[in-house]
Amino acid sequence: MKLLVTGGAGFIGSNFVLYWMKNHPEDQVINFDKLTYAGNLENLKEVENNPNYTFVHGDICDSGTVDKAMEGVDIVVHFAAETHVDRSITGPAVFINTNVMGTQVLLDAAAKHKVKRFHHVSTDEVFGSLELEDSSKFNERTSYNPRSPYAASKAGSDHLVRAYHVTYGLPITITNCSNNFGPYMFPEKLIPLAITNVLEDKKIPIYGDGLYVRDWLYVEDHCRAIDLVLSKGKVGETYLVGGMTALAPNIEIAKKILKLLGKDESSIEFVKDRPGHDRKYDVDWSRIKNELGWEPLYSFDEWLEKTVNWYKENRAWWGRIKSGAYKAYYEKQYGG
Ligand code: NAD
Ligand code: TYD
Repeated sequence: MKLLVTGGAGFIGSNFVLYWMKNHPEDQVINFDKLTYAGNLENLKEVENNPNYTFVHGDICDSGTVDKAMEGVDIVVHFAAETHVDRSITGPAVFINTNVMGTQVLLDAAAKHKVKRFHHVSTDEVFGSLELEDSSKFNERTSYNPRSPYAASKAGSDHLVRAYHVTYGLPITITNCSNNFGPYMFPEKLIPLAITNVLEDKKIPIYGDGLYVRDWLYVEDHCRAIDLVLSKGKVGETYLVGGMTALAPNIEIAKKILKLLGKDESSIEFVKDRPGHDRKYDVDWSRIKNELGWEPLYSFDEWLEKTVNWYKENRAWWGRIKSGAYKAYYEKQYGG
Protein backbone atom coordinates (compact mmCIF):
# COMPACT_ATOMS: atom_id res chain seq x y z
CA MET A 1 0.00 0.00 0.00
CA LYS A 2 1.23 3.49 -0.86
CA LEU A 3 0.09 6.40 1.31
CA LEU A 4 0.38 10.09 0.53
CA VAL A 5 0.33 12.01 3.81
CA THR A 6 -0.05 15.77 3.36
CA GLY A 7 1.26 17.96 6.19
CA GLY A 8 3.30 15.04 7.51
CA ALA A 9 5.89 17.40 9.03
CA GLY A 10 3.33 19.11 11.27
CA PHE A 11 2.19 18.09 14.73
CA ILE A 12 -0.48 15.46 14.01
CA GLY A 13 0.90 14.54 10.58
CA SER A 14 4.34 13.65 11.95
CA ASN A 15 2.84 11.64 14.81
CA PHE A 16 0.71 9.86 12.18
CA VAL A 17 3.70 9.06 9.92
CA LEU A 18 5.63 7.63 12.92
CA TYR A 19 2.55 5.70 14.06
CA TRP A 20 1.84 4.33 10.57
CA MET A 21 5.40 3.22 9.84
CA LYS A 22 5.55 1.44 13.19
CA ASN A 23 2.21 -0.32 12.78
CA HIS A 24 2.25 -0.92 9.01
CA PRO A 25 5.96 -1.35 8.23
CA GLU A 26 5.27 -2.91 4.83
CA ASP A 27 3.58 0.27 3.50
CA GLN A 28 5.25 3.09 1.59
CA VAL A 29 4.66 6.56 3.01
CA ILE A 30 5.15 9.79 1.08
CA ASN A 31 5.18 12.87 3.26
CA PHE A 32 4.10 15.87 1.18
CA ASP A 33 4.72 19.11 3.06
CA LYS A 34 5.45 22.76 2.27
CA LEU A 35 7.40 23.21 5.52
CA THR A 36 5.66 26.37 6.68
CA TYR A 37 6.57 27.73 10.13
CA ALA A 38 4.63 24.72 11.54
CA GLY A 39 6.44 22.00 9.58
CA ASN A 40 9.51 20.43 11.15
CA LEU A 41 11.40 17.49 9.64
CA GLU A 42 13.20 17.00 12.95
CA ASN A 43 10.02 15.22 14.14
CA LEU A 44 10.69 12.47 11.58
CA LYS A 45 14.34 11.68 12.34
CA GLU A 46 13.35 8.15 13.37
CA VAL A 47 12.11 7.26 9.85
CA GLU A 48 14.13 9.53 7.54
CA ASN A 49 16.44 6.70 6.44
CA ASN A 50 13.68 4.10 6.16
CA PRO A 51 13.49 3.02 2.47
CA ASN A 52 9.68 3.03 2.71
CA TYR A 53 9.65 6.73 3.62
CA THR A 54 9.92 9.60 1.11
CA PHE A 55 9.70 13.32 1.69
CA VAL A 56 8.36 15.63 -1.04
CA HIS A 57 8.79 19.34 -0.42
CA GLY A 58 5.70 20.80 -2.05
CA ASP A 59 2.68 23.04 -1.75
CA ILE A 60 -0.78 21.43 -1.97
CA CYS A 61 -1.89 24.49 -3.98
CA ASP A 62 0.62 23.62 -6.73
CA SER A 63 -1.22 21.23 -9.07
CA GLY A 64 1.91 20.11 -10.98
CA THR A 65 3.77 18.89 -7.88
CA VAL A 66 0.60 17.38 -6.41
CA ASP A 67 -0.21 15.51 -9.63
CA LYS A 68 3.28 14.02 -9.76
CA ALA A 69 3.23 12.97 -6.10
CA MET A 70 -0.18 11.33 -6.55
CA GLU A 71 1.08 8.77 -9.10
CA GLY A 72 0.47 5.21 -7.87
CA VAL A 73 -0.96 6.36 -4.53
CA ASP A 74 -3.60 4.13 -2.90
CA ILE A 75 -4.58 6.26 0.10
CA VAL A 76 -4.37 10.00 0.76
CA VAL A 77 -4.44 11.16 4.37
CA HIS A 78 -4.86 14.93 4.24
CA PHE A 79 -3.56 16.89 7.24
CA ALA A 80 -1.89 19.87 5.50
CA ALA A 81 -3.51 23.10 6.62
CA GLU A 82 -3.05 26.41 8.33
CA THR A 83 -4.28 25.54 11.81
CA HIS A 84 -3.99 28.31 14.40
CA VAL A 85 -7.20 30.27 15.09
CA ASP A 86 -5.32 33.38 16.32
CA ARG A 87 -3.28 33.54 13.10
CA SER A 88 -6.50 33.16 11.07
CA ILE A 89 -7.84 36.27 12.82
CA THR A 90 -4.82 38.41 11.91
CA GLY A 91 -4.28 36.91 8.42
CA PRO A 92 -7.17 34.89 6.98
CA ALA A 93 -6.10 34.82 3.29
CA VAL A 94 -3.54 32.02 3.61
CA PHE A 95 -6.16 29.90 5.41
CA ILE A 96 -8.55 30.12 2.46
CA ASN A 97 -5.74 29.48 0.03
CA THR A 98 -4.28 26.40 1.72
CA ASN A 99 -7.32 24.91 3.43
CA VAL A 100 -9.90 25.44 0.68
CA MET A 101 -8.00 25.88 -2.60
CA GLY A 102 -5.26 23.42 -1.64
CA THR A 103 -7.82 20.77 -0.72
CA GLN A 104 -9.53 21.24 -4.09
CA VAL A 105 -6.21 20.77 -5.92
CA LEU A 106 -5.61 17.54 -3.98
CA LEU A 107 -9.14 16.29 -4.65
CA ASP A 108 -8.73 16.85 -8.40
CA ALA A 109 -5.49 14.89 -8.44
CA ALA A 110 -6.93 12.12 -6.25
CA ALA A 111 -9.93 11.77 -8.58
CA LYS A 112 -7.70 11.78 -11.67
CA HIS A 113 -5.40 9.09 -10.26
CA LYS A 114 -8.35 7.05 -8.92
CA VAL A 115 -7.05 6.70 -5.37
CA LYS A 116 -8.79 4.04 -3.30
CA ARG A 117 -9.42 6.41 -0.38
CA PHE A 118 -9.13 10.13 0.31
CA HIS A 119 -9.23 10.67 4.07
CA HIS A 120 -9.76 14.26 5.15
CA VAL A 121 -8.72 15.32 8.66
CA SER A 122 -10.96 18.06 9.98
CA THR A 123 -12.02 19.70 13.20
CA ASP A 124 -14.98 19.99 15.57
CA GLU A 125 -14.62 23.78 15.21
CA VAL A 126 -16.75 23.63 12.01
CA PHE A 127 -19.81 23.14 14.27
CA GLY A 128 -19.39 26.47 16.04
CA SER A 129 -19.79 27.05 19.75
CA LEU A 130 -21.90 25.56 22.56
CA GLU A 131 -23.05 27.56 25.60
CA LEU A 132 -21.49 26.54 28.92
CA GLU A 133 -24.86 25.51 30.34
CA ASP A 134 -25.81 23.60 27.16
CA SER A 135 -25.62 19.84 27.76
CA SER A 136 -25.81 18.92 24.06
CA LYS A 137 -22.73 17.71 22.18
CA PHE A 138 -21.57 17.87 18.57
CA ASN A 139 -22.39 14.74 16.59
CA GLU A 140 -22.28 13.63 12.94
CA ARG A 141 -25.65 15.30 12.27
CA THR A 142 -24.84 18.71 13.82
CA SER A 143 -25.19 21.61 11.34
CA TYR A 144 -22.10 23.54 10.38
CA ASN A 145 -21.76 26.98 11.99
CA PRO A 146 -18.07 28.01 11.79
CA ARG A 147 -17.22 31.25 13.61
CA SER A 148 -13.52 31.91 12.93
CA PRO A 149 -11.74 32.23 9.57
CA TYR A 150 -9.90 28.98 10.43
CA ALA A 151 -13.14 27.09 11.17
CA ALA A 152 -14.81 28.56 8.05
CA SER A 153 -11.90 27.44 5.86
CA LYS A 154 -12.04 23.91 7.31
CA ALA A 155 -15.83 23.84 6.83
CA GLY A 156 -15.31 24.82 3.18
CA SER A 157 -12.82 21.99 2.74
CA ASP A 158 -15.21 19.45 4.34
CA HIS A 159 -17.99 20.49 1.95
CA LEU A 160 -15.66 20.14 -1.04
CA VAL A 161 -14.55 16.67 0.05
CA ARG A 162 -18.20 15.51 0.32
CA ALA A 163 -19.05 17.17 -3.02
CA TYR A 164 -16.25 15.22 -4.77
CA HIS A 165 -17.72 12.01 -3.36
CA VAL A 166 -21.24 12.80 -4.56
CA THR A 167 -20.27 14.33 -7.90
CA TYR A 168 -17.26 12.28 -8.99
CA GLY A 169 -17.61 9.17 -6.86
CA LEU A 170 -14.30 9.82 -5.05
CA PRO A 171 -14.09 7.33 -2.14
CA ILE A 172 -13.72 9.68 0.80
CA THR A 173 -13.95 9.56 4.58
CA ILE A 174 -13.78 12.48 7.02
CA THR A 175 -12.91 12.72 10.69
CA ASN A 176 -13.81 15.82 12.69
CA CYS A 177 -11.81 15.68 15.86
CA SER A 178 -11.42 17.83 18.95
CA ASN A 179 -8.31 19.65 20.23
CA ASN A 180 -5.29 17.36 20.06
CA PHE A 181 -2.28 17.43 22.38
CA GLY A 182 0.93 15.45 22.71
CA PRO A 183 4.55 15.38 21.47
CA TYR A 184 5.71 17.69 18.66
CA MET A 185 2.85 20.15 19.08
CA PHE A 186 3.93 23.64 18.08
CA PRO A 187 4.10 25.82 21.20
CA GLU A 188 1.59 28.39 19.93
CA LYS A 189 -1.39 26.26 21.02
CA LEU A 190 -2.59 26.30 24.63
CA ILE A 191 -1.15 23.09 26.14
CA PRO A 192 2.41 23.21 24.70
CA LEU A 193 2.53 26.99 25.17
CA ALA A 194 1.56 26.62 28.82
CA ILE A 195 4.03 23.79 29.52
CA THR A 196 7.00 25.44 27.79
CA ASN A 197 6.27 28.84 29.33
CA VAL A 198 6.30 27.31 32.82
CA LEU A 199 9.53 25.46 32.01
CA GLU A 200 11.00 28.86 31.04
CA ASP A 201 9.71 30.50 34.24
CA LYS A 202 7.20 32.56 32.27
CA LYS A 203 3.49 32.97 32.93
CA ILE A 204 0.66 31.09 31.22
CA PRO A 205 -1.48 33.59 29.24
CA ILE A 206 -5.17 32.79 29.71
CA TYR A 207 -7.65 34.51 27.42
CA GLY A 208 -10.65 36.31 28.93
CA ASP A 209 -12.20 34.67 31.98
CA GLY A 210 -10.49 31.31 31.33
CA LEU A 211 -13.84 29.52 31.43
CA TYR A 212 -13.68 28.39 27.81
CA VAL A 213 -13.98 24.64 27.37
CA ARG A 214 -12.34 22.39 24.83
CA ASP A 215 -12.69 18.63 24.31
CA TRP A 216 -9.15 17.23 24.39
CA LEU A 217 -7.80 14.27 22.39
CA TYR A 218 -4.36 12.69 22.73
CA VAL A 219 -2.64 12.60 19.34
CA GLU A 220 -1.89 8.86 19.40
CA ASP A 221 -5.55 8.11 20.11
CA HIS A 222 -6.35 10.28 17.09
CA CYS A 223 -3.89 8.32 14.87
CA ARG A 224 -5.54 5.04 15.94
CA ALA A 225 -8.94 6.50 15.07
CA ILE A 226 -7.81 7.40 11.53
CA ASP A 227 -6.29 3.93 11.12
CA LEU A 228 -9.66 2.36 12.10
CA VAL A 229 -11.62 4.64 9.75
CA LEU A 230 -9.27 3.70 6.90
CA SER A 231 -9.65 -0.02 7.53
CA LYS A 232 -13.25 -0.30 8.73
CA GLY A 233 -14.99 3.05 8.10
CA LYS A 234 -17.77 3.43 5.55
CA VAL A 235 -16.87 5.30 2.36
CA GLY A 236 -18.61 8.67 2.09
CA GLU A 237 -19.07 8.92 5.87
CA THR A 238 -17.93 11.22 8.66
CA TYR A 239 -16.79 10.18 12.13
CA LEU A 240 -16.36 12.48 15.12
CA VAL A 241 -13.40 11.79 17.38
CA GLY A 242 -13.08 13.20 20.87
CA GLY A 243 -11.36 12.74 24.18
CA MET A 244 -12.36 12.34 27.79
CA THR A 245 -11.87 15.76 29.33
CA ALA A 246 -14.93 15.86 31.57
CA LEU A 247 -15.39 19.49 30.55
CA ALA A 248 -12.38 21.10 32.22
CA PRO A 249 -12.13 24.82 31.36
CA ASN A 250 -8.82 26.31 30.19
CA ILE A 251 -8.04 27.67 33.64
CA GLU A 252 -8.28 24.13 35.09
CA ILE A 253 -5.96 22.81 32.36
CA ALA A 254 -3.45 25.53 33.29
CA LYS A 255 -3.71 24.59 36.99
CA LYS A 256 -3.17 20.89 36.21
CA ILE A 257 -0.01 21.77 34.23
CA LEU A 258 1.30 23.99 37.04
CA LYS A 259 0.71 21.20 39.58
CA LEU A 260 2.57 18.67 37.42
CA LEU A 261 5.50 21.10 37.20
CA GLY A 262 5.47 22.00 40.91
CA LYS A 263 4.48 25.65 40.43
CA ASP A 264 1.69 27.70 42.01
CA GLU A 265 -1.16 29.63 40.45
CA SER A 266 0.69 32.95 40.52
CA SER A 267 2.09 31.77 37.16
CA ILE A 268 -1.30 32.37 35.52
CA GLU A 269 -1.84 35.69 33.75
CA PHE A 270 -5.24 36.72 32.40
CA VAL A 271 -4.82 38.47 29.05
CA LYS A 272 -7.06 40.08 26.42
CA ASP A 273 -9.68 37.71 25.02
CA ARG A 274 -9.67 36.34 21.48
CA PRO A 275 -12.25 38.06 19.20
CA GLY A 276 -15.24 35.76 18.57
CA HIS A 277 -13.86 33.20 21.04
CA ASP A 278 -15.92 29.97 20.91
CA ARG A 279 -17.17 29.21 24.45
CA LYS A 280 -17.34 25.44 24.41
CA TYR A 281 -16.71 22.37 22.25
CA ASP A 282 -17.98 18.96 23.32
CA VAL A 283 -17.84 15.90 21.10
CA ASP A 284 -20.15 12.89 21.09
CA TRP A 285 -17.83 10.13 19.87
CA SER A 286 -20.32 7.27 20.28
CA ARG A 287 -20.50 6.51 16.54
CA ILE A 288 -16.80 5.67 16.16
CA LYS A 289 -16.93 3.77 19.47
CA ASN A 290 -20.00 1.70 18.59
CA GLU A 291 -19.26 1.10 14.90
CA LEU A 292 -15.46 0.84 14.83
CA GLY A 293 -14.58 0.01 18.44
CA TRP A 294 -12.45 3.12 19.07
CA GLU A 295 -11.87 4.72 22.44
CA PRO A 296 -9.07 6.71 24.08
CA LEU A 297 -6.38 4.48 25.64
CA TYR A 298 -5.83 6.51 28.84
CA SER A 299 -7.53 9.29 30.78
CA PHE A 300 -6.84 12.96 30.06
CA ASP A 301 -4.77 13.32 33.26
CA GLU A 302 -2.54 10.35 32.37
CA TRP A 303 -1.97 11.64 28.82
CA LEU A 304 -1.34 15.16 30.15
CA GLU A 305 1.36 13.89 32.49
CA LYS A 306 3.05 12.00 29.64
CA THR A 307 2.89 15.15 27.51
CA VAL A 308 4.39 17.34 30.25
CA ASN A 309 7.21 14.80 30.64
CA TRP A 310 7.84 14.79 26.88
CA TYR A 311 8.28 18.59 26.85
CA LYS A 312 10.54 18.35 29.92
CA GLU A 313 12.72 15.79 28.14
CA ASN A 314 12.72 17.52 24.74
CA ARG A 315 13.72 21.05 25.63
CA ALA A 316 16.08 21.27 22.66
CA TRP A 317 13.19 20.62 20.23
CA TRP A 318 10.94 23.42 21.46
CA GLY A 319 13.82 25.66 22.53
CA ARG A 320 14.91 25.95 18.89
CA ILE A 321 11.35 26.87 17.86
CA LYS A 322 10.87 29.42 20.60
CA SER A 323 14.18 31.14 19.96
CA GLY A 324 13.55 31.45 16.21
CA ALA A 325 10.85 33.06 14.10
CA TYR A 326 8.14 32.15 16.63
CA LYS A 327 9.60 34.76 18.97
CA ALA A 328 8.40 37.59 16.71
CA TYR A 329 4.90 36.07 16.55
CA TYR A 330 4.79 35.72 20.35
CA GLU A 331 5.78 39.34 20.90
CA LYS A 332 3.08 40.53 18.48
CA GLN A 333 0.36 38.28 19.99
CA TYR A 334 1.11 38.79 23.69
CA GLY A 335 2.87 42.18 23.63
CA GLY A 336 6.46 41.23 24.42
P1 NAD B 1 0.21 21.91 12.13
O1 NAD B 1 -0.05 23.38 11.99
O2 NAD B 1 1.06 21.44 13.25
O3 NAD B 1 0.89 21.35 10.79
C1 NAD B 1 0.40 21.67 9.53
C2 NAD B 1 1.37 21.07 8.51
O4 NAD B 1 0.86 21.37 7.19
C3 NAD B 1 2.78 21.68 8.58
O5 NAD B 1 3.73 20.65 8.48
C4 NAD B 1 2.84 22.61 7.38
O6 NAD B 1 4.15 22.76 6.86
C5 NAD B 1 1.93 21.88 6.40
N1 NAD B 1 1.35 22.79 5.39
C6 NAD B 1 0.75 23.98 5.62
N2 NAD B 1 0.39 24.54 4.45
C7 NAD B 1 0.77 23.66 3.46
C8 NAD B 1 0.65 23.67 2.04
N3 NAD B 1 0.10 24.70 1.39
N4 NAD B 1 1.12 22.61 1.36
C9 NAD B 1 1.69 21.55 2.02
N5 NAD B 1 1.85 21.50 3.35
C10 NAD B 1 1.38 22.54 4.07
O7 NAD B 1 -1.21 21.23 12.13
P2 NAD B 1 -1.79 20.05 13.02
O8 NAD B 1 -2.14 20.59 14.35
O9 NAD B 1 -0.89 18.89 12.92
O10 NAD B 1 -3.17 19.75 12.25
C11 NAD B 1 -3.22 18.80 11.20
C12 NAD B 1 -4.64 18.73 10.67
O11 NAD B 1 -5.53 18.36 11.72
C13 NAD B 1 -5.17 20.05 10.12
O12 NAD B 1 -5.91 19.80 8.95
C14 NAD B 1 -6.06 20.58 11.23
O13 NAD B 1 -7.12 21.39 10.71
C15 NAD B 1 -6.59 19.29 11.81
N6 NAD B 1 -6.96 19.39 13.24
C16 NAD B 1 -6.03 19.76 14.16
C17 NAD B 1 -6.38 19.83 15.51
C18 NAD B 1 -5.38 20.19 16.57
O14 NAD B 1 -5.76 20.22 17.74
N7 NAD B 1 -4.11 20.43 16.25
C19 NAD B 1 -7.69 19.53 15.88
C20 NAD B 1 -8.62 19.18 14.91
C21 NAD B 1 -8.24 19.09 13.58
P1 TYD C 1 -5.87 26.77 20.98
O1 TYD C 1 -4.82 25.85 21.51
O2 TYD C 1 -5.43 27.96 20.20
O3 TYD C 1 -6.90 25.88 20.16
P2 TYD C 1 -8.35 26.29 19.55
O4 TYD C 1 -8.50 27.75 19.56
O5 TYD C 1 -8.25 25.74 18.16
O6 TYD C 1 -9.34 25.58 20.39
O7 TYD C 1 -6.71 27.29 22.21
C1 TYD C 1 -7.35 26.39 23.10
C2 TYD C 1 -8.11 27.21 24.11
O8 TYD C 1 -7.17 27.93 24.92
C3 TYD C 1 -9.02 28.27 23.49
O9 TYD C 1 -10.16 28.42 24.31
C4 TYD C 1 -8.18 29.53 23.54
C5 TYD C 1 -7.37 29.35 24.81
N1 TYD C 1 -6.02 29.97 24.83
C6 TYD C 1 -5.65 30.77 25.91
O10 TYD C 1 -6.43 30.96 26.88
N2 TYD C 1 -4.40 31.32 25.91
C7 TYD C 1 -3.52 31.14 24.87
O11 TYD C 1 -2.40 31.70 24.92
C8 TYD C 1 -3.92 30.32 23.76
C9 TYD C 1 -2.99 30.09 22.61
C10 TYD C 1 -5.18 29.76 23.80
